[in-house]
Amino acid sequence: MTSSLPVHYLDAISLGKIVQIREQLLKAQAGGMRVFRFESGDPSFAVADVVLEAVDKAARAGKTHYIPNNGVPQLRSALASKVARKNGLRGVTSDDIFVTNGAMHALFVTFGALLVAGDEVIVPDPMWTEVVENIRMAGGVPVGVELDATDDFEYRADRIEAAITPRTRAIFLNTPHNPTGAVLSRDRLQEILAIARANGLWIISDEAYEDVLYEPWTHTSIGSIAGDYADRVISIYSFSKSHAMSGLRVGYIVTQAKLLHDRIPKLLRCTINGVNSLAQWGALAAVGGPADHLLAMCEQYAVRRKIMLDALTNIPGVRPFAPRGAFYVWIELDDSALERLGVPDAATLSEKLAEVGIGSAPGDAFGDSCVNSMRFAFSCDTEMVREGSVLLRAALNEGIV
Ligand SMILES: Cc1ncc(COP(=O)(O)O)c(C=O)c1O
Repeated sequence: MTSSLPVHYLDAISLGKIVQIREQLLKAQAGGMRVFRFESGDPSFAVADVVLEAVDKAARAGKTHYIPNNGVPQLRSALASKVARKNGLRGVTSDDIFVTNGAMHALFVTFGALLVAGDEVIVPDPMWTEVVENIRMAGGVPVGVELDATDDFEYRADRIEAAITPRTRAIFLNTPHNPTGAVLSRDRLQEILAIARANGLWIISDEAYEDVLYEPWTHTSIGSIAGDYADRVISIYSFSKSHAMSGLRVGYIVTQAKLLHDRIPKLLRCTINGVNSLAQWGALAAVGGPADHLLAMCEQYAVRRKIMLDALTNIPGVRPFAPRGAFYVWIELDDSALERLGVPDAATLSEKLAEVGIGSAPGDAFGDSCVNSMRFAFSCDTEMVREGSVLLRAALNEGIV
């Protein structure tokens, strides 16, 4: 009898539909086609001068050797101050900061350090794919909780509660949220916290988009309101989106849990043995540097958001959600729109758009509940957003020719 089980755990992990679309677009671009990079969430902005200068200075000063596993002490100390000042986390010291190779690696390390085989983690559905894949790689089981447009894609406490089983170990949340751009209110975070507390669950809070917000929305870190439950909250941050440092690969985990203090250094040691030293010196300059770079980026994102939202509004059968944070527009497609466009589902539409150079991420890349949804990123430069949005509107109105 042949078994249909994968022979290796990685055989059950996807490389991601978004990666496939990106590769298709890059190939088309190399062949001379004008492409619109709406599939990827990579900020178009240059890294701030203070960061580049710090990297250069560190390199010239010979700071190119092995560094402590958990991160350069000066960076960890600056991050402990940052999370106190900006995120309102209390009592955090350098010992509670673990510098990782981006937030992606922070997810890998967190789930790896926390889960044992079969542990369930509640996640929003839709959710950026790599979260569930990282849970699976750690032997865990992601349990999706549907988000609805009618609730502004907020993560509902009653649905989270209904998804809890004896195997549930943690609730994962992400605010601002990729892919919908939803932002969790303080009240909603309080409700989630109460459920976690009542059931003895960990909270993993991915705040990679903490700085990308649109008026009047603001960001609340769940750790800041956790009180005596704070040591069961694990917070994850990144320099990729806030500081447009996506290629430098710096993120960090904040945890006050003794269990994780013992386990995380082992994973850091055996996976990366410390993040690239120069990137860490650059990150230190970014944390201490002026905030005007961040504000300027947010202003541009607001311009791009409007352009893309306008382009996706008033198209029959297409329902866009106005993002409150992050840099994505999430749309839902009615059957009438799919019929008009001659496609069975959003995944096929995404493929067709890619053929004419328009990037997108199909809903089924983010979860089971959203086969008729799509995500368009507006993190590429403003001109590309402007030009591509006109073509996108035409394609969704009139079909792809
Ligand atoms: C919700 C979320 N978390 C984490 C990450 C990882 O970011 P990075 O590894 O670049 O820090 C991303 C990237 O798109 C994301 O969307």
